[in-house]
Amino acid sequence: VTQKAVRLTKGEDTILLAGGLPAPELFDSEGIAAAFQRVLSDRRVGDHLQYGVPEGSHELREALAGITTRRGVGATADRVVVSTGSQQAVDVVSTALVSPGDVILVERPSYLLALQLFALLRARVVAVRCDAEGLDPDAVEAAIRRHRPKLIYTMPTFQNPSGRTLAAERRAAIARTVEREGVYLLEDDPYSELRYDGSSVPPLAASAPEQVIYVSTLSKVLAPGLRVGWITCPSRLAPVLTAVKQAKDVHCSTVDQQAVARYLGDNDLDAHIRRLRRAYRPRRDGMLSALRLTLGDVAQWTTPDGGMFVWVTFGLPCDTGALLRAGLDAGVTFVPGENFFADRPQRNTLRLAFTCEPPSRIHEGIRRLGSARHRLCGAPRG
Ligand SMILES: Cc1ncc(COP(=O)(O)O)c(C=O)c1O
Repeated sequence: VTQKAVRLTKGEDTILLAGGLPAPELFDSEGIAAAFQRVLSDRRVGDHLQYGVPEGSHELREALAGITTRRGVGATADRVVVSTGSQQAVDVVSTALVSPGDVILVERPSYLLALQLFALLRARVVAVRCDAEGLDPDAVEAAIRRHRPKLIYTMPTFQNPSGRTLAAERRAAIARTVEREGVYLLEDDPYSELRYDGSSVPPLAASAPEQVIYVSTLSKVLAPGLRVGWITCPSRLAPVLTAVKQAKDVHCSTVDQQAVARYLGDNDLDAHIRRLRRAYRPRRDGMLSALRLTLGDVAQWTTPDGGMFVWVTFGLPCDTGALLRAGLDAGVTFVPGENFFADRPQRNTLRLAFTCEPPSRIHEGIRRLGSARHRLCGAPRG
């Protein structure tokens, strides 16, 4: 049922609050079309359609190193490997560093497709306690000492699924710990540019560049269909990550890489991201106010400063797996929380995404969710 909810796309009357989909009406399709046109009419079109190098085209790696550097992590093209979305970036890094039976530490809850990937690698996944401010640095240190992990996987900014952001002091403490203990940390950062409140916090990789592998993607800020993600790694890891990337799929599409490099050269991505922020902020606010109106007496939820997700926890017993069936019947999708746990799932939780529907439909979606919950789990006592 969850697969069905996440896969549902626009159409009929179903309101999509499940997948982390960008709003399709905001894609810069004209700019992207112009970039492809230029690449395909270039006199070097033969090169753009030829096999390429596994680490990715130099122009694109330069552009992605520039984006990473502007976010506060000094990067150069020789430390960047282009990947098929950040999903493949997580795959390449964990394949390179983790063998079957090795421990990977994750947040509790964590990103469902990363958990699925780690299960395919037969890693032993250990979830670390998080509170309202995200990963607890003392719990991370204790888990490192106890489990000797090969990798820590974390999303410090606008985490998926909780929407939470790890405070600067906690980042500094965790950076010190991984440096001291010599553990690799994989920082997955698809969302940090989608900030609606507050000021930005430098990535963890900025404080521990020798131990943190930073991965990001253009999926949420340009278009996921391009499948362009990237890894920024310490120099010593670049050869092994490039070799793993090559073994996986030789390299990313040369023509797509060239078109994206062209797009980044010809357009102002930051201006496009400002447009996305202006569009998504009222959607986030609309979702929070609809939740207050509809679920105020039966649930609690996170208030994210950015990203795409709100995490809801019901106070009363309520199995959100069963609730999804009722939600689909009522015409609303979401992701039951059980999918985000490596251990004992918290079945009274769910993840909502607010970016893919306009505020009026978000309101209606939450109303439908509230009615479905009421039918399934009843009224609060007292
Ligand atoms: C935390 C996180 N990592 C990775 C991904 C994968 O994104 P992509 O492969 O499109 O870059 C997502 C997508 O939702 C995500 O939320």
